Parts: sequence; structure tokens; C-alpha cells
Amino acid sequence: MITKTPKLLFLALVSLALLGACRGQPSREAPRRVFDDMDEQPRFQPEEVSTLFADGRAMRTPVPGTVAQGQLREDAALYLGKIGEHAWVGRVPLPVDEKLLRRGQNRFQIFCAPCHDRAGTGQGIVMQRASGAKGGFPAPPLAYAERVPQLADGEIFHIISNGVRNMPGYRTQIPVEDRWAIVAWTRVLARSQGAQVADVPSDLRSSILPETP
Ligand code: HEC
Repeated sequence: MITKTPKLLFLALVSLALLGACRGQPSREAPRRVFDDMDEQPRFQPEEVSTLFADGRAMRTPVPGTVAQGQLREDAALYLGKIGEHAWVGRVPLPVDEKLLRRGQNRFQIFCAPCHDRAGTGQGIVMQRASGAKGGFPAPPLAYAERVPQLADGEIFHIISNGVRNMPGYRTQIPVEDRWAIVAWTRVLARSQGAQVADVPSDLRSSILPETP
């Protein structure tokens, strides 16, 4: 036997459910809202005209000279490899330790070795293939023993960043610190080219020399 109260409750629930189903029906009419919360806000649409500003645009451009946070890059030595307008930074402006060199080695082998090869002789896989049937483009003259060691660190940084002649620039792919790490690694390669056994600290020599029979 059903008493009156549950019946009413049942009816109320059913009608609520039915009413609820009305929401979400597709309609071209503006929705009727009891509480509009923050649905309607005074705002400009993109490209909308505004009488507030002299140029009539609602969309504002940044004030000239605006710099995004973290993008000031005032340090020309670090970011451009330059001192003033015309001089290159002589040495990597970061502490050159084993960590930086290892990073440089790793980045060099990813970004530079395809063309310059791991030792920097310029016989990378790209060069081997490019100089095939069609003549290709010239092998990069990374003769570490001659020209490149005479370049200032800042100039090598600049070459990595912006490219040189046929070589593309890598500033969008390689972050600033990594570019300097690569510069440091090119010095390691140069140093290794004509190295003598005497250059190796005596306690490490046994690790690189073949065992004497
Ligand atoms: C797509 C192939 C390619 C890659 C990758 C590449 N280079 Fe080069 N690089 C060249 C070519 C080609 C030249 C010679 C450009 C010319 O003379 O026209 C060159 C020239 C250079 C020179 C100048 C040598 C000189 O005598 O002036 C330096 C320094 C150099 N590369 C360093 C690097 C470093 C460091 C990297 C890695 C970040 C790198 N390159 C990545 C192709 C490449």
C-alpha cells in the first residue's frame, strides 16, 4: 500500500527529470537563464572596433620595447658571443668543467656530427652522401688543426647560432648554454688532433696506451 507522501515525491522527481531533459535541446533561441552567473561579460571580440582608443582598435599591441619575462638577454657576451659591436668573446663565458664538456660532446654528436663527423674532420654521413652522384655541397672545412682553432670562442658560438655560408644556423634548436658547451667541445677535438702521449697526465696514460707485450 502506497501512502500519499511517497507518491508526491515520486511525481516531483519525475517532473524534475523531465524538466531537466529540456536543457541541452538544440535551439536558436537565446537560453533562458535563472542565474546567468558569468555567462555574459562586457568584452571585446577579436578584431572588434573600440572608440576607447585613438586608433579605434580594441586589440592592443605591446608598448614598443616590451620584453617578455625572461627574454631580456642583456648579456651580449652570453647570448651573442660579442663584446660591444665588433669584438668576439675570447673564451666561453660559463664555467668550463667536465660536466659542460660532456654535455658539449653529447650535443656535438647529435647536432654537428651528421656533417662534421664525431672527430670534426668533416666526413659526416651527410657529406658522404651529398658528395655522391650529384656533386653535393662542399664538405665543411672544419680543419680543426688549422682555421677553427684560431677563431675566438664567440665567433664559433656565432657560427653555431647563425650558420656560415652553406651551413645553417642552429639557434632555434640548441639552447644558449648548450651552444657554449659545443664550443668548448670543439676545443677538445682540436686539442685531441695533434695530441702527444706526453699531454696525458701520467697516471692516465696506461688507460689509453696498448699493453706492451
Ligand atoms: C647540415 C650540415 C652541417 C651541420 C649539421 C653543421 N655544420 Fe658546420 N658547416 C657545414 C658546412 C657545409 C660548412 C662550410 C660552410 C661553407 O664554407 O660554405 C660548415 C662550417 C662550419 C664552421 C666554419 C668553419 C670555417 O672554417 O669557417 C664551423 C666552426 C662549424 N661549421 C661548426 C659546426 C658546429 C659546432 C655544428 C654543430 C652545432 C655544425 N657546424 C653543424 C655543415 C654543417
